[in-house]
Amino acid sequence: MAQHVCPWWLGYLLACPLRRLVNDPHKILSPYVHNGMTALEPGPGMGFFTLELARLVGPSGRVVAVDVQPKMLEALKRRAAKAGLLDRIEARAASSNSLSVTDLAGQIDFALAFAVVHELPAAAPFFAEVATTLKPGACMLLAEPVVHVRTARFESELRLAAQAGFNPVEYPSIRRNRAVLLRKP
Ligand SMILES: C[S@@+](CC[C@H](N)C(=O)[O-])C[C@H]1O[C@@H](n2cnc3c(N)ncnc32)[C@H](O)[C@@H]1O
Repeated sequence: MAQHVCPWWLGYLLACPLRRLVNDPHKILSPYVHNGMTALEPGPGMGFFTLELARLVGPSGRVVAVDVQPKMLEALKRRAAKAGLLDRIEARAASSNSLSVTDLAGQIDFALAFAVVHELPAAAPFFAEVATTLKPGACMLLAEPVVHVRTARFESELRLAAQAGFNPVEYPSIRRNRAVLLRKP
């Protein structure tokens, strides 16, 4: 797959509160994320979804947000500190071909991959890596913007996810995105 990483300055636009009018993070995440959970978010950008993940996991939970761009992580940490949520968020640097999450094997209750898979150099190792971090029965919500990911490409991502052992369990309706909830058996 071709690689085109979202420029860091676009992170400000993606984290803009007005985006909630189209994609409300609470509405999207609250069916799946609960108090005390450990969540993984590859490609969080400046944290549009991360802060809501942190609210939903509560003070006893934890969010590991892994991005390849340091400027995204710096802004994410600033926003989390301002919201009083930094103590439950770990902002971690990834390399372009690995999330560097081997230490999280079998620890994650929920993963969110929102608008990130189409930016990766290869989706297959990504799905394999995330699958390793998930507890048995845990889910990943995969969402891809319709403007960047056409149906055929999304279907190809789903095939790669299936090869990593994921089963589709639900196709949530998320405006302007193609979305699927994938479960690790
Ligand atoms: C389009 S932005 C989406 C940000 C956020 N998920 C959202 O919806 O607001 C994609 C993000 O994925 C990150 N990214 C791209 N390639 C990555 C990789 N190989 N590993 C981790 N993050 C990556 C980018 O730096 C960027 O922050």
